[in-house]
Amino acid sequence: MSDLTGAITAPADDSSAVVTGKKRLQWSSRMAFILAAAGSAVGLGNIWKFPYITGEHGGGAFVLVYLACILLIGIPVMMAEIMIGRRAQKNPAEAMETLALEAKASRLWKSVGWMGVICGFLILSFYTVIAGWAVSYVFTAGSGAFVDITPDQAGAMFGGMLADPIRLLSWSTLVVIITMYIVGRGVNAGLEKAVNFLMPGLLVLILIMVGYAMSTGHFIEGVEFLFAPDFSKLSTESVLVALGHAFFTLSLASGAIMTYGSYLPKNTSIVKTSMAVGIVDTAVALLAGMAIFPIVFAYGLEPGAGPGLIFVTLPIAFGQMPFGTLFGVLFFLMLSIAAITSAISLIEPAVSWLTEKRQFSRLKACITSGLGLWVLGLGTVLSFNAWENHKLFGKTFFDLMDFLTANLMMPLGGLCVAIFAAWVIKSKVAEEELGLGTGLLFKAWQFAMRYLTPVGIVIVFLNALGVISL
Ligand code: PHE
Repeated sequence: MSDLTGAITAPADDSSAVVTGKKRLQWSSRMAFILAAAGSAVGLGNIWKFPYITGEHGGGAFVLVYLACILLIGIPVMMAEIMIGRRAQKNPAEAMETLALEAKASRLWKSVGWMGVICGFLILSFYTVIAGWAVSYVFTAGSGAFVDITPDQAGAMFGGMLADPIRLLSWSTLVVIITMYIVGRGVNAGLEKAVNFLMPGLLVLILIMVGYAMSTGHFIEGVEFLFAPDFSKLSTESVLVALGHAFFTLSLASGAIMTYGSYLPKNTSIVKTSMAVGIVDTAVALLAGMAIFPIVFAYGLEPGAGPGLIFVTLPIAFGQMPFGTLFGVLFFLMLSIAAITSAISLIEPAVSWLTEKRQFSRLKACITSGLGLWVLGLGTVLSFNAWENHKLFGKTFFDLMDFLTANLMMPLGGLCVAIFAAWVIKSKVAEEELGLGTGLLFKAWQFAMRYLTPVGIVIVFLNALGVISL
């Protein structure tokens, strides 16, 4: 892990580490960590997934529940994960074990770290396929195919891509290779710099899209869909999806943030950095929604169209606006890079475990996990064509992977992290790491972890399973 990024440097002070021994490397600055964590958090979840699940779950009420989950559960859990990583200075599985032993609790807590690592791996198996769609659209946009495209043509173009497994596989293979190459080499200063311009660049492009959305004459309709809550549209499953997405979009319960947190210097505020990452992530998702829904309504498209939503709506916008081909290329390029900075953080915990515990060389670890990913990714590729009608519990392979990770493993992982951080780890340790003192803010965090998160997650689960009905 030492070469994770050019921004990681020798430690300033690792006296906080529970484990003594080898000096551990650290981020060079608070900003470096925020950028890396934001690079992990901002990805397909914000621009691809958030709009389409919001569309599927009826808009405003879903968004409200999602925002509540981010604020009340997601950000406090993020603080807990960074705290655990930084305190133990180890990969997620061993970090949980180390802190459990420090608190004289069962070493079985290790399995929670493990579940995260596996969850990250499973997510990545479909994440690379969707990232492949984005990369493919860079070239589609570049060919001028969006110019004056009609909604029907945009739908047919996307459908044509999905129907072709070889095409999907080629692009996702390219994404796997790029991701593993970067992870294998260590993310160099070049990529760090790329992230530096990517975030502002992505934001500017989304703002341009929002600007276009304003010109469609349906901006208010789109914004109302996004923000005016209609609770009659909210099903019990919607609440579970909103909760799961809060974890997904903040990169929680997957080893990613915990691993990145393990490089955070002692003197950096966990609270402030978590808030910064949470705000950036939420802003990108909401802006993406504001760019997409007005277009959906302006062209009479279906908000609940599913995973293809942005790939059908945005080309129409690019086809109409001045310099649309250029903006289209830039947008899908940025989306691809945003997806890759997330993909790196999804695989890093597994690779680090293979190198640290199994003594694999970094190259061998990358090839092994890359091959595993690729094979699992075939299931997602085929879900959109040959296996489209092969369903288990009414879900395709892709739907199942998505449901299993975002809606089951992540909330469950978050629940365990909350219990661990607030009931198992000693209060004093948490106080020390969070640096909030013992005042109201610390009490609020503790309340969120002790009661709000566990009770909230259990209720949402039971409700979704039909055991109780609210
Ligand atoms: N947060 C990323 C996104 O929104 C996905 C992700 C999940 C990344 C879990 C790392 C860990 O696209």
